[in-house]
This record gives sequence, C-alpha cells and structure tokens, in this order.
Amino acid sequence: MSRLAILPALLILAACDSAPAVTFKDASITLPDDPLELPEGPGRDAVLENCTACHSPSTMLQQPKVSREKWEAIVGKMQKLYKAPIDDDAVPAIVGYMVHVQSQPEAAR
Ligand code: HEC
Repeated sequence: MSRLAILPALLILAACDSAPAVTFKDASITLPDDPLELPEGPGRDAVLENCTACHSPSTMLQQPKVSREKWEAIVGKMQKLYKAPIDDDAVPAIVGYMVHVQSQPEAAR
C-alpha cells in the first residue's frame, strides 16, 4: 500500500478530533444574591419548621416591609389557600420573627 492511500484516512480522523459533532457550551446562570440562612432572632425555629418546606428563606426575607397584621394575614393565607400545615400555636412566633427581621437594617440580615 502506498503512503498516499492512508493519508485521507488520517485526515478524516484528524477532522473528527478537532470538530466533535456535539459542542457543549458553558451555560452558567447567575443567581441573585441569596441569603440562604435566616438570620438569628426570636421565632426563627418556628419559621424553619413551618415555612421552609415550601420557600427558600430568601422568598420570605425579600418581601416588602409590611405590618404585623399583614404578616398574620400572609400566614393565614399560607394555611388556608396553600394548605400549609402550620400549627396555630406557632403563628405568633412566626409573625413576631418576620416583623423582627424586617425591623433590622438591611445589612444585618
Ligand atoms: C404548603 C406550602 C407552603 C408553606 C408551608 C408556606 N407557604 Fe408561603 N407560599 C406558598 C405558595 C404556593 C405561595 C404563592 C406562590 C409563590 O409566591 O411562590 C406562597 C407565597 C408566600 C409569600 C409571598 C407573598 C404572598 O402573599 O403570596 C410569602 C411572604 C410567604 N409565602 C410566606 C410564608 C411564611 C411566612 C410561611 C410560614 C408560616 C409560609 N409561607 C409557608 C406555599 C407555602
């Protein structure tokens, strides 16, 4: 066999090497700053037990600042509308925690 006959085969192999059929792109996404931990505060445990099954902490922390009554209404909405299994006894602690956290300066959260 002449050397010329194997040359095309080598070229094809080389072409395969440099041009794979599938190219994977680096598709990274940038998540917003996400405070994964709830800050310390009275009632934190009640929130962890009753709320974080459905929400990341940031969902709750990134709410507009609202009144105590509004938080009571939100927790009630979770119970009634979304069937959240929240212990009624825990509601004051949960509401107290949310009000407490929202009263802290942004940087401390
Ligand atoms: C059974 C699942 C579930 C649990 C448990 C739950 N939630 Fe929700 N929550 C939802 C759903 C569903 C929504 C509406 C969709 C969304 O905004 O992600 C929601 C929305 C919210 C919102 C957005 C504002 C609003 O009125 O919709 C806040 C704030 C909130 N929940 C707080 C809480 C707090 C605090 C607790 C714990 C007392 C809690 N959730 C427990 C399911 C749940």
